Amino acid sequence: MPEEIILIAAVTVDGFIARHNNEITNWTKDLKLFKKQTLGHTVIVGSNTYDTLSKDLPGRKIIKYSRTKDPRQILMSIREKRCFVIGGGKTYSKFSSFLTHLFITPHPYVFNKGVRLFDLRINELRLKFENLNSFDKKEGIFQYQYKVIKS
Ligand SMILES: NC(=O)c1ccc[n+]([C@@H]2O[C@H](COP(=O)([O-])OP(=O)(O)OC[C@H]3O[C@@H](n4cnc5c(N)ncnc54)[C@H](OP(=O)(O)O)[C@@H]3O)[C@@H](O)[C@H]2O)c1
Repeated sequence: MPEEIILIAAVTVDGFIARHNNEITNWTKDLKLFKKQTLGHTVIVGSNTYDTLSKDLPGRKIIKYSRTKDPRQILMSIREKRCFVIGGGKTYSKFSSFLTHLFITPHPYVFNKGVRLFDLRINELRLKFENLNSFDKKEGIFQYQYKVIKS
C-alpha cells in the first residue's frame, strides 16, 4: 500500500466538486498544478469522472474504479510510495478511510447543489494543516494541503 494516498480536488466554497454527475469541470483554474503534482504517479478515478475526461491523462497510470472493486485491493496493488485519488465524490468517499492527505483548492463559486466532495456517507476525518501552495495569487487560487490524523 502506498505511504501517501492523496485526495486532490477543486471545490466550491460551499464544498461541491461539480454541478452534476457528468459535468465536465472546465471551471477549475488549477489544472496546471494538478498536472504537475500527479505526473509520474498512479491516479485512481471513478467511472463517472473517467467518462468526463476528453483524453487519458498522459504520464500517469490510471486505475479506473467501479463499485464492484475493493478499494483496499486496488491500493495494495500499487507499488509506488505515492498515489492520488482524483475523484469524483463517490470515489473520494469510497477511499476516504485510506486517505493520508487532502489537497484542496477552493474556487470562487457557490453551487448550492451538485456533487459534494464526499458524496456518500463517510466517517469523520480529522485534519492537520501542513502547507499552502500559492498557485495563482492574482486569481486567489490557493491549494490547502492537509494531513489526515490517524487515531
Ligand atoms: N472538482 C474536482 O476536482 C473534481 C474531481 C473529480 C471529479 N469531478 C466531477 O465529479 C463528477 C463525478 O463524481 P461522482 O461522484 O458522480 O462519480 P465518480 O466518483 O467519478 O464515479 C462514481 C464511482 O462510484 C462508484 N460507486 C460506489 N458506490 C456507489 C453508489 N452507492 N452509488 C453510485 N456509485 C457508486 C461507481 O461505481 P460504478 O462504476 O460501478 O457505477 C463509480 O466508480 C463529475 O462531474 C466530475 O467531473 C470533479
